[in-house]
Formats: sequence, structure tokens, C-alpha cells
Amino acid sequence: MNNRDQPIAYGAPGSTLDVGGSFLQSEGSGTGIDLRHFLFDLIGDISDLWDELPYPEEAEQDDRVNLEGRAERNLRKGQERSRSRLAKKKKAEANVIRLAEVDALDLPVSSTGWTHKSGSYRRCVKNELDTLLQDIGRTQFVLSQLRHIPFIRAPTMVLDAANRLIVLRSFEFEYMDQNFMMSLLQRLDTLFTKSSVVPTAEREKNVRGKFLFCIMGWSRSYSPIPTRGIWETKNSRFIEEFLDSGEFAAVCMEMSRILERWFPKYAARCAASNEWWKSRTQGFVAMKFGYFFNCCVNVAEATPGTPPADVKCGPHVDYKNIAGGVCALYVIGFFNHGERCWLVCWETQLIIEIPPGIYLLYPSSLVFHWNADRREFYTGDTQMEMVTTSNWELPVPENTSPLRRISSGRGSIVFFNQASMFQSSELDSASVEMAKSEGKSGGTDYAAKANEGYTSFHLL
Ligand SMILES: [Fe+2]
Repeated sequence: MNNRDQPIAYGAPGSTLDVGGSFLQSEGSGTGIDLRHFLFDLIGDISDLWDELPYPEEAEQDDRVNLEGRAERNLRKGQERSRSRLAKKKKAEANVIRLAEVDALDLPVSSTGWTHKSGSYRRCVKNELDTLLQDIGRTQFVLSQLRHIPFIRAPTMVLDAANRLIVLRSFEFEYMDQNFMMSLLQRLDTLFTKSSVVPTAEREKNVRGKFLFCIMGWSRSYSPIPTRGIWETKNSRFIEEFLDSGEFAAVCMEMSRILERWFPKYAARCAASNEWWKSRTQGFVAMKFGYFFNCCVNVAEATPGTPPADVKCGPHVDYKNIAGGVCALYVIGFFNHGERCWLVCWETQLIIEIPPGIYLLYPSSLVFHWNADRREFYTGDTQMEMVTTSNWELPVPENTSPLRRISSGRGSIVFFNQASMFQSSELDSASVEMAKSEGKSGGTDYAAKANEGYTSFHLL
């Protein structure tokens, strides 16, 4: 039995890659989090963690440095001083945005409290957006009215009117550099090259866009018993290879750490649901992705002789996902993120720049969102296909390893939880219908869940 057969998920507490982490004191205890101290402690803490990441090559390097002489020790001291300066700089740059017009409790939630509002409401908003964005001129006008949040090298916290954290953009992880990203893309390229192609008909049904995607994990949208997708089951061997890679495990591990530290009560809610499912299924149904039951990889398809394409999704809301929580988006690829990687979050009236290697945690189940290029209010950059060579050779056709199936343009890895999994665990019934037949309401208290899930902070 390998790690993957264990009920412990990638990067989850207790897995081999986890380095620990404690839950924060939050509003539920009656005091809330002191934002100033929280930020200072947190950023210092995480900056330190960057240097302790369980990355095998770095561990070996550390051993070598310890065995060598004074010059190396001095070099190491210099590096430590530099890291310390960097950590202080990051403290000074922490970015908090408070939206006086937005209240998490007023976001469009269904009467049962589990998900986004009704289908008719969704269609109404979608029609409104389609009208607003029907040509480039109108799109430029609409996007120019939103609040633009360019990337800074520090976490960005977006608080609602009641100081609840509703959106978090992470800082950079230094080891997730271009080499890391190229390795991750090659892992994905192998997955999509070996796997059977997702049928065109299925891809065309994807309301988010016609790109390659791979949805993994347990879902029970249409039945009381959780199932996994047909494509996932058919290609499980190749998916397992990808999930077992160090690159994916690292992406998953950092996501779990971020969730634990910024959204501790939502993480606890997820962990409780996971425990319920494990206890009912002898560990068979369990979260495989940290605190999430599901993960979706989105990549654009490679087309020989053309520049790399990007994943581009139109306005949508992930309405099956649990309300009162967040999904975690991790951006992948090689591109000029200043121009080509902005996410519109409509109900918050924000447009957020997300470079590759950065996470965005946000309530994708409750806010309409879509990709926007800056050319929609600015223009153009040069796109290049990425290749690798051995031994620092200059690339020529004979010695390069290009990506075969996927583009090196903008893509994403998204972690999410469907409401249906939480309905079972929190109602302690197989389904909402079953709960109702047992005399339960079948709903949930969204306000209570949101007050906990979207961590409250004191602004000083
Ligand atoms: Fe989405």
C-alpha cells in the first residue's frame, strides 16, 4: 500500500510533507484576531518556513554547507541576513483591503444555506454580464471601473465590511521558481499525453471554456453515494503518477498551510466533513487534496506552430460548491502576468492580478468570476513556448524537450469542495432528502458558517 491508499491527503496535517501548524485564535472564541500582531507574527513565521521546506535538493545542499569551511559559513550567514531583511520587508508590505460595500452575509446564497442562489438568479446575472461585456469597448469600460489589485510581494487580504476575510492572495514561495514550474508543467504534459483525450463533446459542455481539464476526487452531486468521474477512473494510473509527484505534493502542501493559517475554522469544518466520510466508509471516501475533496487541473491545448494558448474562462459561478468557504486557485504557466493573469471577482468589484506560483483563496461558489487580460484595458506581450535541455546546452530542435500535449500558457490547479459532501456529513444523513425524511430541516445556517469560515480580524 502506498501513501495514496492512506486516508491521509496530500499536504494534509499528518502527511509526510506536513511540517505542522496550529490553528489561530479567531472570532469564535469571542476575541477575534488582532490583525497587526497576526500579520507580523504570521509573515515572520511563514518567511522562516520558506527556508525549512522539505525539498530534497535543498536538504542535501544544507548538509554540504555544514561540512565545508569558513567561507561557506560566511556565505550562509550572508544568506540568512538577506532572508531576514526580506522577511522585514514583507512585513512592511502586507496589504489589507477593506470593502465597505461588501458583506459576506449578503452574498447570494440559496434559502437552504448550502450553495449559491437559484438557477434563475444565476441566469439573470449571467445575462447581465453578457450584455455588459458584449464587445471590447464595453468590456474595457466595465473593467476599468473595477478596483485593480496589482501583485505585490506580500499577502493581500480582502476584508468585507464586517472585517471578515473573504479573499486572500498569497505571497511568493521562493522554491516555486521557473525550474519548479517547468517540472510541474512537464508532469502535467505527461499526464495529458498518456491519458485518453477528454471527448470534445464533454469539453464543449464545460461552461468555463473549451480547454483541457482533469477533475479529480469524490463527488455526490447526483446520488447519495460518492463517485469519481469516468475520465478519472479510466486514467487513474496516470493520474496517480501525477499526484505522487513532488511538485504536485508541494502545491497541495502549501495550499493546506495557507488555509490552516488564514481560514482556520473553515479548515476545521473541512476536516470534520472528512472525518465523517472516513468513519462511514472505512477510510475509503476521504479528502485526497489537503482540506479538499476535489481538484481540477485546467490547461490549454498545445497547437504546433502557434504561440502558447491560455486557459480562458468566461463569467461563471461554481454554484455546486459549499457556501461559507473558499476554493483555492493556484496559477501555472509561463507568461507576463502583469498583462495576462487577472481574475475578476464581480460581487466584490475587484480585478486581481495572480502570477504563476501564487494562490488565490476566494468564495468561488458565491461570486461570479472570470479571467481578464490586461489587453482588455491595455495591450500585448510576446508569447514564447518553453522547452528544456540537459547540461545547460543552448536549445536546438535535436536537444530540446518541449511540452507535447499542453501549452505552456496560463493554466490553473483549483481545489474545491462540493456542497453535497458537506450536506451528508453535517446533516448526518446520506442526502438532504434523507435528512428531511428523518425530520431534519435539510438546511444549514449560512450566517453562522460564514461568520466562522471567513475569519474575522480586528482593524487597529
Ligand atoms: Fe470557477
